[in-house]
Amino acid sequence: MSEPWWKSAVVYQIYPRSFCDASGDGVGDLEGVRRRLDHLAWLGVDGLWLSPFYPSPMKDHGYDVADFCGVDPLFGTLSEFDRLLADCHAGGLRVLVDWVPNHTSDRHPWFVESRASRESPRRDWYVWRDGSPDRPPNNWRAAFTNGPAWTWDEATRQWYLHLFLPEQPDLNWGNPEVVRAMHGTLRFWLERGVDGFRMDVIHCIGKDPALPDVPERVQRIPVSALNDDPRSHALIRGIRGVLEEFPGDRVAVGEVYLLSTQQVARYYGRGDELHLAFNFPPLFAPWEASAWRARIDEVVRKLDPRDAWPTWVLSNHDNPRHRTRYGSEARARAAAVLLLGLRGTPFLYAGEELGLEDAVVSDARRLDPGGRDGCRAPIPWSAAPGHGWAGAEPWLPWPPEAATRNAEALRADSDSILRLYRRLLALRRASPALRLGSFAWLPAPEGVLAWRREHGADRRVVLVNFGTEPAASPVPGAWRVDVSSDGAGEKAPYPGRLAPDQALVMSPSTSAGASR
Ligand code: NOJ
Repeated sequence: MSEPWWKSAVVYQIYPRSFCDASGDGVGDLEGVRRRLDHLAWLGVDGLWLSPFYPSPMKDHGYDVADFCGVDPLFGTLSEFDRLLADCHAGGLRVLVDWVPNHTSDRHPWFVESRASRESPRRDWYVWRDGSPDRPPNNWRAAFTNGPAWTWDEATRQWYLHLFLPEQPDLNWGNPEVVRAMHGTLRFWLERGVDGFRMDVIHCIGKDPALPDVPERVQRIPVSALNDDPRSHALIRGIRGVLEEFPGDRVAVGEVYLLSTQQVARYYGRGDELHLAFNFPPLFAPWEASAWRARIDEVVRKLDPRDAWPTWVLSNHDNPRHRTRYGSEARARAAAVLLLGLRGTPFLYAGEELGLEDAVVSDARRLDPGGRDGCRAPIPWSAAPGHGWAGAEPWLPWPPEAATRNAEALRADSDSILRLYRRLLALRRASPALRLGSFAWLPAPEGVLAWRREHGADRRVVLVNFGTEPAASPVPGAWRVDVSSDGAGEKAPYPGRLAPDQALVMSPSTSAGASR
């Protein structure tokens, strides 16, 4: 049986507000994405994940959904979505959409109805609790506000639960009508032909109906990073069943925001829950060999025994970009080699292929209640004024160096980080070992990680020097450099040492070398 497409895919995350504006209002849109598909085809990714584009009051920039089955006019129309999907499929690109099952906007008609009265037929679609107005029902904290995860509704004199903003009330997945309605929203997009979903905080949908306090020692942590109730697993199996009603390998990629790989691993179930789960501990690791080695070992230890396929991600719309975190382009380049050399499905965040840093956002221009504006800066497509965006000043400031660090300029420069990503993606596509092969550590000096990937006759070695000094790192046999993070020495024999912050992918230089 052939492997499902998503195992060997590289998925590219698009935050639609920030990708490209075709309408001229300063906010990216679906038509803007469509017009830039040539960039993705040229780059060589296999699929897209689109962050939310649904009708929304935009309190959390689209993660507060007011209609799961539509497109916000800011982003376009449903027929523009269909056109984008058709063009992606025609070009061989898969499309994942973001699905936000834990909560809705407070403007969603379901919540409006739920809130209207205690007797509303939809009252129980959300989580309401009695109590006195000065004391929330439990000690849970919301994300972003750091306040209680509860808001008092004066009109009906009850509290409602929201793990995020007060404008994002939590759905009650304990109610079978909610389960049915949310399954319906999946079918809506599956019928349109999407290849799968990125499922927002999927570990939060099941909750203990007793809503017990969290232990005092973790009381300051938002409960969205703690909730790990067994009910979620049964609900995810139900969701998986909906995907399986449809032909093709429709994929469920879950955002499991629990900062323990062991906990994340459980969301793969027995091969009957998520196909893929994000695992964030590596994203939060510093740029240090020992830290990365520990995070990778943890993935091997916890996922392999379950036959669970890992994911790898360095950047997304919720965290400072890794170029910013690691502090230099050289490291961002080495990190790209690391990411694309590991065993599992890598997710790229639009703009990392340009080596973008977070934008500096003045107090006056700050918009996000979670302080995440910097990594959501618009993508500069060219050096020209407006950087390839139609018309108006974009909703957030440009990232640093947009005049030179833009897609057009970097595409023309054979030494650029963009060209490095393209070489890595082409190499990965051509190498069964890199896409699907086994993983084994090789001995390496302190500050360096070295591993082997192998599939049938195809063998590769990946080396990453996390250090700021050159490092001798011999690898038995004769090896030839396929791709090097700084472009140095490609196609030449491996000299047995690495430059500071340099990473390499190599193949055996001869078949004799390979078996030595
Ligand atoms: C996780 C998403 O990635 C983030 O952007 C959002 O704010 C929360 N979930 C709430 O939906």
